[in-house]
Amino acid sequence: MLATFSNTVFYTVLQLVLAVLFPAFAVAFGDQQPLGVDHTATQKRVTWDEHSLFIDGKRLFIFSGEVHPWRNPVQSLHLDVLQKLKSAGFNAVSIYFHWGVVEYERGVFRWNEIFDLQPFLDAAKEAGLYVIARPGPYVNAETTGGGFPGWGTRVEGLWRKSNRNYTEAYKPFVREFGALIAKNEITRGGPIILVQVENEYSGFGDGIEDFQYEWQLLQDFKEAGITVPTVCDDAWLGGHFQFVDIYGWNSYPLGFDCSHPEIWHSAPPDYFYNLYNSRIRKHGPKSILELQAGGFDGWGGAGYDACGKLIGPEFERVFYKGMYGSAVKIMNLYMAFGGTNWGQLAEPGVYTSYDYGSIIREDRRLRDKYYELKLQTQFLAVSPAYLTSTPWQLTESKQIEILKGTRNIVLTVLEDTLDLHTKFYIVRHKYFTKFDSINYRIELQTSIGSITVPKADHLLELQARDSNILLVDYLAGKTHIIYSTAELYTWKEIDGINYIILYGDPNEKHEAAFKISGLKDFSSLNTDEEVEWTYQIDDAVLTINFSILEDGDSQSIKFGNTVLLIFCREVASKTWILDTEPPAIVKGGYLIRSASIEGSNLHLKGDLTQATRLHILAAKSVKQVTFNGKSVDTQPATDGWLYVMYTPELPDIELPELLKLNWKRADSLPEISEGYDDSKWVTASNTYTPNREKPAVKEVLYASDYGFHSGNILWRGHFTASGGEDEFWAVVQGGQAFGYSIWDNGVYVGSWEGDVTTGRHRCNFKLPKPWKDGEEHIITVLQDHMGLEENWTAATEHFKAPRGIFDYGFKGAKPKLVDWKLTGNLGGEKYLDVERGPLNEGGLYAERQGWHLPDFDDSEWEAGSPLDGVKKPGVAFYRATFDLDVPLGLDYPMAIEYSNSTGSYYRSQIYVNGYQFGKYVNSIGPQKSFFIPQGILNYNGKNTLAISLWAMQNEGAHLKSLDLRILGKVEGGVGHVKNSPAPAWSKRKNAY
Ligand SMILES: *[C@@H]1O[C@H](CO)[C@@H](O)[C@H](O)[C@H]1NC(C)=O
Ligand SMILES: *[C@@H]1O[C@H](CO)[C@@H](O)[C@H](O)[C@H]1NC(C)=O
Repeated sequence: MLATFSNTVFYTVLQLVLAVLFPAFAVAFGDQQPLGVDHTATQKRVTWDEHSLFIDGKRLFIFSGEVHPWRNPVQSLHLDVLQKLKSAGFNAVSIYFHWGVVEYERGVFRWNEIFDLQPFLDAAKEAGLYVIARPGPYVNAETTGGGFPGWGTRVEGLWRKSNRNYTEAYKPFVREFGALIAKNEITRGGPIILVQVENEYSGFGDGIEDFQYEWQLLQDFKEAGITVPTVCDDAWLGGHFQFVDIYGWNSYPLGFDCSHPEIWHSAPPDYFYNLYNSRIRKHGPKSILELQAGGFDGWGGAGYDACGKLIGPEFERVFYKGMYGSAVKIMNLYMAFGGTNWGQLAEPGVYTSYDYGSIIREDRRLRDKYYELKLQTQFLAVSPAYLTSTPWQLTESKQIEILKGTRNIVLTVLEDTLDLHTKFYIVRHKYFTKFDSINYRIELQTSIGSITVPKADHLLELQARDSNILLVDYLAGKTHIIYSTAELYTWKEIDGINYIILYGDPNEKHEAAFKISGLKDFSSLNTDEEVEWTYQIDDAVLTINFSILEDGDSQSIKFGNTVLLIFCREVASKTWILDTEPPAIVKGGYLIRSASIEGSNLHLKGDLTQATRLHILAAKSVKQVTFNGKSVDTQPATDGWLYVMYTPELPDIELPELLKLNWKRADSLPEISEGYDDSKWVTASNTYTPNREKPAVKEVLYASDYGFHSGNILWRGHFTASGGEDEFWAVVQGGQAFGYSIWDNGVYVGSWEGDVTTGRHRCNFKLPKPWKDGEEHIITVLQDHMGLEENWTAATEHFKAPRGIFDYGFKGAKPKLVDWKLTGNLGGEKYLDVERGPLNEGGLYAERQGWHLPDFDDSEWEAGSPLDGVKKPGVAFYRATFDLDVPLGLDYPMAIEYSNSTGSYYRSQIYVNGYQFGKYVNSIGPQKSFFIPQGILNYNGKNTLAISLWAMQNEGAHLKSLDLRILGKVEGGVGHVKNSPAPAWSKRKNAY
C-alpha cells in the first residue's frame, strides 16, 4: 500500500494535475519548506522547525495523553483526570470529538450540558495542559460508527471522499466544531495548540488517496477560524495527508491481544528516522499522534487488567525509549484515560468499559504504569538538549564495537548538534521478547575524550525488558555531567543548590562523572546517609561509583553546590516535582496534585490511600506544611528536607445491599401480548435503500433507514397465513456479540444468544404450531444493536452496515405479508431525552416509556427482584432506589457488579439515575463489574437504579447477585462533584 515510486516524480505529476483543477494546489505543492522555523505559520504563538514545536518561541517536547470527554459524562470530574496527567508530567491532552452525538438529527447541533466541550477545555487550561484537538470528522475511537452520525448511513456514496453528498454532510459540523476550536486556540487565550484534521486517513477501500478531499477539509477548518498548526495521524509512516503543517502518524506495536500479557508479539518501533526523512516532504518535528498506551478489549476478551499488564511499565520503558531513539518530539499516548462506553457509545468490537488498561483506570485510580511514565516525562521536561538531537548512523558492527563486543544490544546515540554536543546513549535488547539480562561495557564519546565505562571493574546491566538512557555531556543546570550510566529523573535548583536525581534498580552498580573546578569543591563532598559509594578526582573530574539501594533507602552526595540524590526506581517514580517558585520535591505519596508557597507555609494538595510519610525538599523559608488544607506536624531534618506524616481519614460508609432493596418489577415486552397496539410504530414501507448493501427481500428492514441507530430494536411482521407454514427463518444483523429472540403471536419461537464473533446470524426455527389458512400472525423480533461499525479504512461503507433483517422466509407455505413495523428509541433521531443524549435509550418498552428515569411512579407495580427473575423468555424491568452519603473530600469510586453466572442466557442493562451505564451479556462477558462515576451516582442523596433483564431461553433467567462495591478509597479528589443533569420522569406524549 505504500508508495513505491519516487516521491518527487509522484508529487510533480500530482501538482500538475491538481494545479489545473484547483489553482490553490499550485501553492500547496510548490511550497518546498526550507529547514528552520516555518514562517508560513499564520500566527506567532505556535511555530515549529524540523526538530520541535515552539510555544511562544520556546522549544518543548509535547508529551500528551488521549482522553475522550464524551466518555465521561460528568463535567466536574474532568479536572481530576487532567490534574493527574499534569502530575504525571504531561504537558498536553489530546481529545477526539464525536460528531455523531452532537448532530444526531441532521442540521441540529445539541451540546447540552454533558456534551459541551467547553468545560473540558476550561479544565485543561486550569490544570495547565495544552490541548491537541482532533475533531475528525471521522475518529474511529471504537465508538459507534467511528463517530459518524447514524443519519449518515442514508447519505449515498463513499464517505471520507470528495463525494459531494459527503462533503455537504460534514460542512456544518466542521463549521460548528471549527468555530469552537478557533475560540479556544492559544491565540485567543485558550489551551488548543494543534488541530488534527481527519484521522488515520491511510487505507483506502478504493485504493485512492483523495487529495481533493484532504485539501478541501483543511480549507474548511481554516475557514472556520483555525490558525494553529494542523497535524495528521497516518495509520503508519505512509506519507498520507501531507497537506498538513506537521505530519504525524501512529503506532500500536503490540496489538490488542491482551490474553497473554507476558508475550510480546512484535518488535519495538523500528528505527524510523531515515524512513521519515525519505518519505515526508516537509520535515517537521517527528510526531506520533497515537502511541499505544494500552489496548481495547472486545466481547469475550481478557479484561482490562490484562491489557494494563501487556502494555505495562516494561512496555513503557522499552517501546517509548525506542521512540526517543528516533528523535520523536511530539508524542500522544492513546489512551491516558479511557472512560466508559456508557449509553451505547460502543462500536460492536468493544463493551461498556473503555478502561483501555491506561495509566489512569476507568474509575480514575492510578495504575503502576502511571509512575513509570512520570520518570520519562520529567526527564524530557528538563532535557532541552534532546529537542535538537538527531541520531547517529550506526551499523550493527559499529554498535558492537561501541559495546566492546557485547551482542544483542541495540544502541542508538542521539547527539545534540546545535548545542553542547550532549549525547543520549539509548540501549535496548535486540531480542526484546526474552527475559534475560545482558552485562556490558560501553565506550562513550565525551568532551574529555572517549571513555569506556564503567571504569570500575563491574559491568553495566541491561535488565530483561528494560531500556536505559545513558547521558554524556549533559548540563543539569549549572552542573556538567560528563557521563552517567544511571538514568536521570530530574534536576531542580532550590535556594542555590542544584539537586540532581539519578535512579536505577536495586543492586545495580553505576558510575557517573562530573566536571568540577577549584579545590574548595571537593572539601564539601559529604554525605548525610549511609551510602555505598566511592569516588576519585582527576583533573577536575569527579567520578563516583555507587550501588542502588533497596527500596526506600536513598543516598545523597554533595559537591560544590550540587547535591546528587540517588534513588531506586520505585522511590524516584513516587517522587513529585512541583512547580512552585523555587520548585519543591516531594518524596512519597499516592498522588500530589499541586503545591503553593505562602510565607513559611507549603500547601500541598493530593490524594492518599494510607498513612504516608512525605519527605519534602522546598525553599529554606518553608517551615510548615499543610496537606489538603490541614496543617500537619512538620519535622526538619539536618539535610534540608522536611518530614511530615499524614494519615488520611478514610471512613467506612454505609452501602446499600442492592438485592435487599425494595424492588418493583414490570413486564417490558407487552409487544408480544395479544391485542398490543403497534399503530404508532414506524411502518417499514421502504422498498428502496440508499445503502449499497441491498436486502434479499423487497421490503427494507434496516433500522437506520427509519432513523433508529442504537439500542434494542423491535420488529413486528404482520402476516396472513396461507396454511401450512411450519418454520420461520431469518438473517438478522446487529454487530458482533448481538442476539435476538423471536415470538409468533406471543408464543416463544427461539433465540440466538450471540457469540464473540457473529455480527450477522441466520436462524431457522420451527413455529410453535403450523399456521392455518387465513390466520393472522405477528412475528415479533427483538434484536440487540451493538453499535454501528467502525473501520479506519477510508472509502469503505462499513459504518453503514445495516442493523436489521436482511432476509427471512417461511417453510411449508408462503404467507401473505401485511406489513412490517419497527421501533427503536422513542422519537428516533428526534430523541426525547436531550440531557442524557441520543444514544442513552434503546427501543425497549421500558425505555420508550421512560421507566429508567428517576421519579417514575412504580407504586402500582408488583414487588419483584431481579434475583427472582422471570420464568420464561421475555424482558422484565426492575426499579429500586437507595441513598448514599459520602462526605466531601473523599474519592470512593464504585461499581455495580453481577456475579459469575452461567446457566441460562440473558442480557441485562444497568440504568443509574436514568443513565445507561452497563450492558451485560452473561454468556459472553467478560465485563461483570460496571463502574458508575460519582455525579451519575448521587453520592449525597437518592439514587434510582433500574435493571433490564432479557431472558433468552425457555426456562427464563435471573441474576445470581447484584452488588454495589467500593473499588478504592482515597482522601483527596477534586472536591465538590456536581451531579450531571438527571431530569425526572414526566409523561411522554405519544409514547407507545
Ligand atoms: C448523492 O446522493 C444522491 C441522492 O441520494 C444520489 O442519487 C447520488 O448517486 C449520490 N452521489 C454519489 C456520488 O453517490
Ligand atoms: C475495513 O475495510 C477493509 C477494506 O474494505 C477490509 O479489508 C477490512 O476487513 C475492514 N475491516 C473491518 C474491521 O471491517
